[in-house]
Order: sequence, then C-alpha cells, then structure tokens
Amino acid sequence: MNFHILTLFPEMIMQSLGTSITGRAIDKGLISVNAINIRDFSDDKHKKVDDYPYGGGAGMVMQAEPVYKSYGYLVNHIKLSKENPADFKKPRVIYVTPQGSIFNQEMAKELSQEEDLIFLCGHYEGVDERVLNMIATDYISIGDYVLTGGELPAMVMIDAISRLIPGVLNNDISSEFESLQDNLLEYPQYTRPEIFMGQKVPEVLLTGHHAKIEAWRRKQSILRTYERRPDLLEKANLTEEEREYLTR
Ligand code: ADE
Repeated sequence: MNFHILTLFPEMIMQSLGTSITGRAIDKGLISVNAINIRDFSDDKHKKVDDYPYGGGAGMVMQAEPVYKSYGYLVNHIKLSKENPADFKKPRVIYVTPQGSIFNQEMAKELSQEEDLIFLCGHYEGVDERVLNMIATDYISIGDYVLTGGELPAMVMIDAISRLIPGVLNNDISSEFESLQDNLLEYPQYTRPEIFMGQKVPEVLLTGHHAKIEAWRRKQSILRTYERRPDLLEKANLTEEEREYLTR
C-alpha cells in the first residue's frame, strides 16, 4: 500500500512514520510513504503558497495552483511507478479537514483495500475551494476539534490503516480480534507478575481453561463498553442473555 501526502511539512510526516511499527512496515516494503512538499510547486519567487481570503476575514488561504500542480506531479509519478500501465487508476484523494466525516475503524478497513491513497493536508484557514472541487474525493476529520494542520490527522489515519495490512503487525490475527471490531471495547489485559502492589490477576486467567477465559473476556468487554462507551453498544451484536446482564 502506497501512502502519498501533499503537505507543507514533509519532514514531519517522514520522521514520525519512519519510526516504530510503521517504520518497520516501510523497511519490509509492506507500505511506502511519499511526502510531497506543496511549496516546491509555487511559482512565486518567495515560494509563497497562501494569500488573503476574498471577501475578507481572518487568516490565510492555501492557493489552488501549487496544490493542483503538486497533485498533477504526484499522479504522474504514481502512473509511471506501475509496471503495467493497465494497473493505474486515479487514486482517491482524502482532504483532511475538521469539516469531513469522522474517521473510524470501518473507514480504516475500507481504505486499507486501496493500492494508493493521497492525503491533502491543509494549513492556515483552509484550501481554495476550487482545487478541492477538482481533486478531493473524500473529506475526512479525525474528531470534533481543530488542529493547526492536516499532518497529524493524516498520520493518525495512515497509522490506523497500516496496521490492518497483512504482515504489518507481528501477529496477523491480532488486528482481527480487537477493540472496536464488534463495536465492543477490548477486555482488560494483565501480564507478570501475578500480584502487583497487592492487586491479583483475575483467577480465571490462570486456569488455562480457554472456554472460561473467552467467556470472562467477552463479559468484561461488554461491561467495559457499557461503562465507558454506551453509544457503541447499540451497534454491538449481543445475545439476549448478554443484554440481560446489563440491565441487572
Ligand atoms: N485539520 C484541523 N483539524 C482537523 C481535524 N480535527 N481533523 C482533520 N483535519 C483537521
């Protein structure tokens, strides 16, 4: 899977995603991360990429032209990178914005099926609407709060998508049976020692009885979701019996 990011801060992306699990996935050739500096496509002698908003108002707006040119360059680069030209199809372009649909696990899963994805990171008060109309296919937010730019949200999404790609996590199944898969939060986890500051690991986990452990974990997941994220429970697949012990 190839991630392409149109940004004013390519070094921010490359440094962060080059670390830890995504860094290892890059080294293994499971993902690639290609950050393009929009500023390189400014024709202005000071490499300016923003200007005052028409109609007035606070802040600056990213100009259409450098964004459009960087996109054109990138699409051509992607096209040329395909061994078989028939493999080329125009990649989706995600404009990262607080005005988008809110990112979730299901979207991560869906996006992980793409071969190439382009993220456009805005700064200042946004990007000239005309270039968005021309290139953006998806508008995605990572939550109802406003950040200073689109780089962190793009990296959040790239991280969430990458870990769903086979081979990226050490254990392939671990991303399947995890938090939010069934709209339930994950059960509590424990590791050695058996007693920490007087707190003992739940007895059932020491029995080696897999069916009992599974049942305990399922119940803990449900209770935890009920306490912390009751909104998720409506979408979760619970049995009659499970619904019952929540009302008790
Ligand atoms: N840009 C600024 N804030 C953002 C957010 N919450 N999600 C996506 N992009 C953003």
